[in-house]
Order: sequence, then structure tokens, then C-alpha cells
Amino acid sequence: MPDHIAIIMDGNGRWAQQRGLPRTAGHRAGAENISNVVDAAMKHGIKTLTVYAFSTENWKRPLDEVNALMALIPEFCTGKLKDMMKNGVRLRTVGRTDDLPALSRMALLGTIAKTAKNDKFTLNMALSYGGRAEIVDAVNKMLKEGRKSITEADFQNYLYAPDLPDPALIIRTGGEMRLSNFLMWESAYSEIYVTDTWWPDFSEADLVKALDWYATRDRRFGGIKTK
Ligand code: FPP
Repeated sequence: MPDHIAIIMDGNGRWAQQRGLPRTAGHRAGAENISNVVDAAMKHGIKTLTVYAFSTENWKRPLDEVNALMALIPEFCTGKLKDMMKNGVRLRTVGRTDDLPALSRMALLGTIAKTAKNDKFTLNMALSYGGRAEIVDAVNKMLKEGRKSITEADFQNYLYAPDLPDPALIIRTGGEMRLSNFLMWESAYSEIYVTDTWWPDFSEADLVKALDWYATRDRRFGGIKTK
């Protein structure tokens, strides 16, 4: 079982379009689905889930779409707090969260603090996140400390969430075969599973399919088979 799964939640727009709804309705349904998938992941013994909720490139989307996504953050934090406390879910974030509007940032900080001691499951939200931005931010932290050279293990300590294991499995919904600047450093040896299912429709059965596929993978990390 993968300890850490990361998900590229794509297809909200197409899900909405198919129903004749605005794209923002797709994002709302997508935000709602995060909790379903957290419950399903917990049930199947996964400890950490990272979800790609907003990328550094998503700032280029129309203002009303960006605003709608930003408004979903406090809504999620307030609406899901009770369940997170009941189920022992800790909320964390990765990304340039200083760039988020104050309301979203404050809601996140509040929920992160309130759930900090929950230890059954970690929901890690990538917000204003870019894999390249993360690497550049890490390099700048290093330079500020006056470091001249570094090892891979040391570099890990400059990332946004150094304590999290690399994701063993990355799931992408919506059918596109690309990483879209997600976890560039951490995905070096991740297994990648792409499904055509749109994110708001991604269910426990879809997660189980991904986990079954993962179980068939032979993870060698560049080595050779030893048995
Ligand atoms: C990609 O679908 C999805 C996003 C850019 C945003 C993902 C965000 C959520 C699922 C909700 C976020 C939750 C919170 C609490 C902020 P797309 O819009 O590119 O879909 P399309 O490819 O079908 O157009």
C-alpha cells in the first residue's frame, strides 16, 4: 500500500460543461470530492494525501475563476473542520501560500493550527504550488544561508514539506498524460496512474482500481530485481 498518494485533480471544467454548468460549479464539486477521497484513502490504509488544488500557473485563469477557487478555501476549512477533528485528519499546505488572499490564508492558518495534533491522516493541499517554484524557493533558502554545495538528502530539507515521504503513487484524473509542474523533485520514482474519470466523479472504486494497479508494479528505483 502506498503510504503517500498525490493527486492531480483535473477535469472539473469538463465535468461542469457536460452538465451545462459554469466551470466554477465543477471546482465546487471537486472541492467536495476531496473529503470523499480522504475518507476512502483512510479506509484503505493510506496515511498521506497531497492534492494539487491550485498551481502557480493557475493565476493566469480568468479572475472570476481564480476568485471562485480562492473562495472555496475558507469554505472548505470551515465546512470540513468538524469532520477533520472527528477523523483525526491534519491539514497542511505546500506552495507559495503567502500569495493567497488574506481570507483564504487566515482560514488555512486557523485550520492548520486546530488540526495540528491530529495524527491519523495528513491532507496536504498544494496551493499556489509549482514544482519549479518549490525548487527555486529551496535554492534561494540555501543561498540565504550561505551554502556553497549540497547533497540530495540535504536538499530535501529545503523543500516545502521535508518530513513527508515522496509520493509512491501519483494519480491524475481527466486523462492527460503530464505532470503539469507537480512535485518535480518528489516524483522522481513515483508510479503514475492516469484515469479518464473527471475529478468530481473520482470515487472509492476508482481509488481501489488505482491501488490494485499500483500493487502490480515492480518498484526497483533504478536497481535490478533481487528475487
Ligand atoms: C483542474 O481542472 C483543476 C483545478 C485547476 C483546480 C482543482 C481544484 C479543486 C478540485 C478544488 C480545490 C479545493 C479547494 C478547497 C481550493 P480544470 O479546471 O482544468 O478542468 P478541465 O481540464 O476539465 O477544464
